[in-house]
Amino acid sequence: MENNDNKQYHTIKKFQPWLEQYRDEYLELMAYYRCAMMEVETKFRVLNEEYSLRHERNPIDSIKSRLKTPESIFEKIERRGYELSIESIERNLDDVAGIRLICKCPSDIYMLCDALLRQDDVILVEKKDYVKEPKANGYRSLHLIIALPIFLHDHKKIMTVEIQFRTIAMDWWATLEHEIRYKKNINDDSEIARRLLACAETCFEIDTEIERIYVDSLKKRY
Ligand code: GTP
Ligand code: MG
Repeated sequence: MENNDNKQYHTIKKFQPWLEQYRDEYLELMAYYRCAMMEVETKFRVLNEEYSLRHERNPIDSIKSRLKTPESIFEKIERRGYELSIESIERNLDDVAGIRLICKCPSDIYMLCDALLRQDDVILVEKKDYVKEPKANGYRSLHLIIALPIFLHDHKKIMTVEIQFRTIAMDWWATLEHEIRYKKNINDDSEIARRLLACAETCFEIDTEIERIYVDSLKKRY
């Protein structure tokens, strides 16, 4: 953690003059990303509401949204060798606005993703399905990059948003794995890595069983 704080401090210090010079433009761009996150959140809240009317259950457990911090933006621009400008941030970074959608079971992920992508103001930019093909460390999530318009007083502006769809169990695992990996440099073939992978598999077995329980409980009611 200490190393991370130190790195962040140096990143902030290095880019401070640029941020002061372009402060207004930077804050304006961040406000547009916040608007885009609000649009996406609303779309999911509408889908959740409609689904619960039809099926008497909410597919969404919670929605978390985050705006990338200036340190993270500058760090990524530098690491990838992009030019530092407002236009470059907008053109090159597709995860400045991030939404994490925590779902109840694995099939909810695909139901919500398909429903979103059917909307005619949403453009799919990129899809990475780590649920069907988990990462070697056990990480599961469905990642989308979408582009969608926000409507301003005299024009519309197309913004990109990253969406991560996870079940509660996938999110639980990813949150802890992230914390453990950041605290220590975990080697891919270490004992800790193997145990984390085993936990990810157990989480997925539980997800699969929860899904069956949901289906069976509905069958019994009708
Ligand atoms: P960046 O966009 O630069 O991060 O690279 P990328 O596009 O190749 O990344 P990807 O879409 O695969 O993943 C981006 C985000 O997913 C990360 O910032 C994390 O939030 C999450 N993520 C990806 N892999 C892992 C993982 O192994 N563990 C955890 N905990 N989170 C992960
Ligand atoms: Mg990415």
